[in-house]
Amino acid sequence: MMLIAPELQGPDGTLRRRLADIEQRFAAELLSDIEPVNTLVGYVERYRGKMLRPTLLLASAEAAYGPEGFEAHGEAFAVLATVVEMVHMATLVHDDVLDEAEVRRRGKTVNALRGNEAAVMLGDYLISHAYHLCSSLPRPGGRAGGVSLGRVIASATNTVCEGELLQLAHRNDWRLNRRTYFEIIRRKTASLCGLCCRLPALVVGDPEGPGTTPAALTEFGEKLGIAFQIVDDLLDLTGDPETVGKSLGRDLAKGKLTLPMIELLERAEADRAVPGGAGLQERLARQADESLPGEVREREAAELAGLALSSGALAAAKDRADQLVADASDAVRQALPDTPGRAVLLDLAGRVLTRKA
Ligand code: IPE
Ligand code: IPE
Ligand code: MG
Ligand code: MG
Repeated sequence: MMLIAPELQGPDGTLRRRLADIEQRFAAELLSDIEPVNTLVGYVERYRGKMLRPTLLLASAEAAYGPEGFEAHGEAFAVLATVVEMVHMATLVHDDVLDEAEVRRRGKTVNALRGNEAAVMLGDYLISHAYHLCSSLPRPGGRAGGVSLGRVIASATNTVCEGELLQLAHRNDWRLNRRTYFEIIRRKTASLCGLCCRLPALVVGDPEGPGTTPAALTEFGEKLGIAFQIVDDLLDLTGDPETVGKSLGRDLAKGKLTLPMIELLERAEADRAVPGGAGLQERLARQADESLPGEVREREAAELAGLALSSGALAAAKDRADQLVADASDAVRQALPDTPGRAVLLDLAGRVLTRKA
């Protein structure tokens, strides 16, 4: 499932063709002379994801620098789009170990198929290759002046790891506050999305700073990334497993409180009369209690989701995502002229909110 409307893909489906090229580069980079390695890599290449991060990078490049930008820097954009998808894939493979998830992209997870040891090593292989591929690029602006792309990407992956570690530190914390929740998702998800939108400017050597195009694109990516994770958290509670194509209900099962449930807890606390709201923290904690039978937890999970719906907690979380996307879109509208590239970014932003997978 791609996140771009067919009519916005450019002449002869330019964007679609660029994404297909990224997939080929992804496979070529990971090819090994060791067959068991290729078998493992095959599991993550079986099914395509949405390619959100490469799409953000390529669409930002198009919006800011147009076809001329691709003529001058198309190779660097393509390499970096492959790198960010590889980083993303590494985080998913490791995340599925942490979440003990069984299904990803409609297939079995690597940990379910081959165990945690293989999944941990495959994630390491992916992250190592991401930096290997990135280091094939020359430093923008020559040795003396330009930034090191590897260093900028590493800084973002440091932040992603900190986000996952902060989340782990709050496992089974049924009093997690909003501030910490947003800190977690800004780091684990939004930092990589912000990086994707910022990288083209670093390649081109466009100065960053308040009021500039690179600053607006970074803001766009980060706000969109936060909204994307809120929608993901809503899907974890209310999505259709077939459509989403990954294990759902893992957040509560792993003791992770997310915005919809934080909203519900706040409502139950403020209004003692929220029906079913009594003892809510205890009920949430039962979701992560592995000694309870699966059917009991599933039934209660459905009740909790129903309560989140009827109390307005789901709607409040969705409103927050809507607002973030509106702000992200405004930033881009103000900083960039109305071009086909900008239209792609704005359309993509809308799709992040309406997606069902
Ligand atoms: C899943 O990311 C992990 C989150 C940050 C929520 P995606 O939903 O972009 O995963 P794929 O690549 O499309 O499978
Ligand atoms: C993980 O968040 C996001 C990453 C940075 C890997 P989730 O745990 O919600 O992602 P999914 O739902 O498993 O895709
Ligand atoms: Mg997960
Ligand atoms: Mg999730």
